[in-house]
Amino acid sequence: MIRRVLVFGLLGVVLILLAFVQDQDIPDIALWRRLYASDDSRQWPTPHLDDDVKTNFVDIGSLPDVEYPLDNPFSKEKSALGKLLFFDPRLSATKQLACASCHDPQLGWGDGKSLANGHNRRVGKRNAMTLYNVGYYHTFFWDGRSPSLEAQVLFPLTDSVEMNTAPEVAVRHIQAIAGYRPLFKSAFGDSTISISRIQQAIATFERGIRSYNSKFDRFIKGNKDAMTDDEVWGLHLFRTKARCINCHNTPLFSDNQFHNDGQTLYGTRQQDFGHYHISGKQEDIGAFRTPSLREITLTGPWMHHGNFPTLLDVVQLYNLGNPEPIQRSVTIDPKTKPIHSAKLKKLNLTNEEINAVLKFLGAISSSTQQRIAMPKLPE
Ligand code: HEC
Ligand code: HEC
Repeated sequence: MIRRVLVFGLLGVVLILLAFVQDQDIPDIALWRRLYASDDSRQWPTPHLDDDVKTNFVDIGSLPDVEYPLDNPFSKEKSALGKLLFFDPRLSATKQLACASCHDPQLGWGDGKSLANGHNRRVGKRNAMTLYNVGYYHTFFWDGRSPSLEAQVLFPLTDSVEMNTAPEVAVRHIQAIAGYRPLFKSAFGDSTISISRIQQAIATFERGIRSYNSKFDRFIKGNKDAMTDDEVWGLHLFRTKARCINCHNTPLFSDNQFHNDGQTLYGTRQQDFGHYHISGKQEDIGAFRTPSLREITLTGPWMHHGNFPTLLDVVQLYNLGNPEPIQRSVTIDPKTKPIHSAKLKKLNLTNEEINAVLKFLGAISSSTQQRIAMPKLPE
């Protein structure tokens, strides 16, 4: 009798323990390592997706080749010319600011500052975006106000707090440099220098700015040892409990859509309604284009306002469900009250899990800034 009680008691304890273990989501790193590094994403564990994300969902993975538009196909000559123009401060009115002044390859193709400063050191409204993988986006800028990379070139050129230059002035400056003429000839067939050719050349160069093969890329191609246990755990959390995959999906780690991430900074001097200014739709108040997370450790400070100095701050924000803080003293206009995306919920990640997600962000980034040789500009 006593033996039977003992046996059943023990069984009960084991069952309770098992249930507890299940509930705690004990990581099964060995299993995940096998599935994710199988070089077959059909074997990956099912991601935790919201219903509206399931249609047309494309998982994270290796980046395909970038596509060039039919009306501006790739050529080596055009790309090389675009690179020179990108680094050339003579494109600006003062001849002191180049695209590269704010998009420095050694600062993750950004400027390392919270907010960019341009013409006469005037401070802009937003964080300078990285140009890593810029050719994979469908719209450009944090708020999506430019429909193509070619069109995008005119914005910083003419922006009064960026390069502050009329297109004719930029064209005149470049026409005055004899060394550019043969380069336009080999890129476009004749030596005419026009603003649309400048736009086409710069856009062609930008499409070639790619992130580097990461530990993650090697891992999912079958190199089972390319990622550490924490990184594998972080990858799994990213696609499941931490819910990042609902927006940071596709091989770019961006769905190319706009979401309110709780960053409107309502009622402050930095208030920014983002995509609402383009679409005019109330649901777009405070919505910004999902940024890629490739090379993310190199491109801080983060978010459209650059107010996040560490990635730990960012992940902790998501863990809290991205509350949209509004100061009590601010009167809220019901027509413009920002509402954060319904995809953002409290995540209940433990400190170990937060750390794993951070480690995974490291595994989709290069470990050091890449150096690219500054081109010698034509005279
Ligand atoms: C004064 C700093 C500054 C200069 C100079 C500058 N940019 Fe930018 N760039 C920014 C900022 C800030 C943003 C984000 C602006 C926004 O979203 O409103 C940006 C965004 C971009 C984007 C959008 C990237 C994306 O992912 O959508 C591209 C492309 C770009 N810049 C290219 C250029 C080119 C080409 C030049 C030169 C013609 C240039 N920039 C000059 C600061 C600068
Ligand atoms: C609702 C969609 C959504 C989800 C879910 C989401 N993000 Fe984001 N993420 C965004 C958007 C949109 C931004 C840009 C917000 C802004 O700047 O105002 C962003 C910005 C970021 C940035 C800063 C990028 C930069 O270049 O400054 C990081 C890092 C980031 N997210 C990581 C994560 C991680 C990790 C998770 C999961 C824990 C996650 N995100 C979940 C949409 C999302």
